[in-house]
Amino acid sequence: MTPVPRLGDDARASGWDRSADPEKDPALIPDPATTDVPAQLRKAIEDAMARYPDSRSAAIPALHAAQELHGWCSPEAIEQVACVMQVTPAYLDSVASFYDMLENHPVGRHSVYVCTNISCSLRGADALLAAIGEAAADDADFNVRSFECLGACDIAPMASVDGVYVGPLSIDDVPQLLDDARSGRPVLPDKQLATRLVADPRANSQQFPPHAVEQGSSR
Ligand code: FES
Repeated sequence: MTPVPRLGDDARASGWDRSADPEKDPALIPDPATTDVPAQLRKAIEDAMARYPDSRSAAIPALHAAQELHGWCSPEAIEQVACVMQVTPAYLDSVASFYDMLENHPVGRHSVYVCTNISCSLRGADALLAAIGEAAADDADFNVRSFECLGACDIAPMASVDGVYVGPLSIDDVPQLLDDARSGRPVLPDKQLATRLVADPRANSQQFPPHAVEQGSSR
């Protein structure tokens, strides 16, 4: 059977290709007196920590906030989160390297996750992923990747564009999808999951009239 590596470097999970250096001193909890943390990031982390009985449970939203600011979970971003949460950078690194929506290397600021799980695959997701990848190949602002079921199988084939679910998508939608994301317009407003009506009229939200959904509002 042909092995199918998850990552380009053949690692099955992020970070497994990096061996630890037992000679190196462990990184300590950063000192608040010497670690600069942007005020907005500090506030986001403290807000997240206040929501949990054990503040360490805020690691994921805290890292996500740092990723939004820095573009990825860089060593500097991890240092800042560790400082506010008063945990070791290693603790946060273990979280950031486990969850694949937390990035461990620099990526384009627009994330396009194309679902390639069964429902989407049966409706042409592989061709869609290839088309988006090809169209965005020369644009470093895009982070295009496949994703397993994003939980919106009824709009297959679909994608999450900067957190906004759109579908069903066709290859013809690709130029507008990329253009909308580039220009900061709502992405494919007519195809956003948030604007779709559902069978139960009481469940239909009146606060999202068609064409009014802002980028990132579904996060
Ligand atoms: S299979 Fe694509 S959203 Fe579920």
